[in-house]
Amino acid sequence: MDMSPAHTSQRANDIAQVSRRPALKPAAAGTVSLAMGEPDFPTPAQVSSAGIAAIERGETHYADQNGLPQLRQAIAARTTLQTGRPYAPEQVVVTHGGTGGLSCVFLGLVDPGARVVMPEPTYSLYADLVALVGAEPVLVPLADDLHWDLDALAAALPGADAFVFCNPCNPTGIVHTAEELQFVARLLDGTDTLVISDEAYSGLVFGDATYSSVLNVPGLAERALLVQTFSKTYAMTGWRIGYVVAPQHLVAPIARIHRTINGSLATFTQHAALAALELTEAELMPMVTAYAERRDFAIQLLSGRDDICLGSPEGAFYAFLRYPYPVPSEAVANDLSDRGVLVRAGAEYGPHGEHAVRISFATSKASLRQGIDIICRYLDELADRHGQPQPTV
Ligand SMILES: Cc1ncc(COP(=O)(O)O)c(C=O)c1O
Repeated sequence: MDMSPAHTSQRANDIAQVSRRPALKPAAAGTVSLAMGEPDFPTPAQVSSAGIAAIERGETHYADQNGLPQLRQAIAARTTLQTGRPYAPEQVVVTHGGTGGLSCVFLGLVDPGARVVMPEPTYSLYADLVALVGAEPVLVPLADDLHWDLDALAAALPGADAFVFCNPCNPTGIVHTAEELQFVARLLDGTDTLVISDEAYSGLVFGDATYSSVLNVPGLAERALLVQTFSKTYAMTGWRIGYVVAPQHLVAPIARIHRTINGSLATFTQHAALAALELTEAELMPMVTAYAERRDFAIQLLSGRDDICLGSPEGAFYAFLRYPYPVPSEAVANDLSDRGVLVRAGAEYGPHGEHAVRISFATSKASLRQGIDIICRYLDELADRHGQPQPTV
C-alpha cells in the first residue's frame, strides 16, 4: 500500500497551508520557557482525587456521548446562575477540551465557503479550523490598544456567516468589555450570523477588568455558541475536557460531530470535572492572584523600555509585546530561543500579530526575570543594529 505523502488529504493540506501553529517541544535544558499556554500549577487535589475515586469505583466504561447527565446538569445550572437565563442540560455537549468543542462547532455549523470574521491577532486554532471546513476567513485587525476596531468590525460583519473570538484573548490578554459585545450585538441585529465565543480564560481576569460572557448580552446570547474548557481555570490541560453551550436548535449538529469523532469521553475525567465545578472561588483564588502578581512583575520589568508596547493585559496569562524593529517575529522567536528563552511568535496569531511576541505568566517570577532579561538584552542588540526606534504607540 502506498503510504507516501501523496495520500495526504486535501483537507490536511489546506490546514498545513495556513497553519502557523508550531509543533510544541519541551524546553531544552537551561532554557527558560515563557511560551507555555498552560498553567504551571498542579490540578487541585480534590479534582484529581475525584478522578482517581471514579476509576477505583469502576467508572471506566462508556459514558453518555453528550456528557455525563450530572455534569451537563451542573454546567447548565452554573450557566443559568451566571447569566440569569434558563439553560437546560440538553443544551450542553461535553467535549474533548476547548479544542474539541471548537472543532465540533466548526464542523457541525460552518459550511465550505462561509465567511468567518475573526478579529486578529487571535488564538491560532481558529484559522486552522476555518481551513479544515473550507470556509473563508475575514481577518479584522485589532485597534492599537488591542481591543476590537469597532469601525472595522462594522465594515466586515455584514453578510458574515460566523464571528469567532476569544474573551479574555489569547494572545493579547485583553478582556473585551460588555460595551464591545453590545456593539457587536447591535451590528448583528436582524442577521443570521453565528457567534462563536471561546471563553477558555474566563476564570483568569485581573484587577478592575470585568469579564462579560457572550451569554450575558441580549442579542448575542440567542445566537451564541459558548465554548468553554476546564484546562486553564482548573489547571486541567491534560484531562482533556471542556464543553459547548448552544441554543437548543444548534445542539444536534454539534453532538453529531462530537460522537462521530470522539464517541464518548473518558468517564473518570468527567467525574473530575464535576469536582472542579464544586471548587469555591476562594479555592481557585491563589492561582488567579499568582498570575496577577506575575503580570505586574513582568510589566514592571519591561516598564523602562520605550521600544516595547504591551497594551494592558487584564486576563488570561499572556502579554503581547510589540517591538518596532523590522525583524519578523518568527526570526525573533528563533533568536530568543538561541539565547535561552522561548516565546511565541506574534505571526502565529495572524498577520497583524507580526512584529510582536507573546510571553506567558504561567511560570515562576524567577523564570520571568531571567527570560525578560534575555529579551531586553536582545532588544538592545536590535536597537544597535537597526537604530533607536520611535517610541511605540
Ligand atoms: C483561547 C483558547 N481556546 C481554547 C484553547 C484550547 O484549550 P483545551 O486545552 O481545552 O483544548 C486554548 C489553549 O491554549 C486557548 O488558548
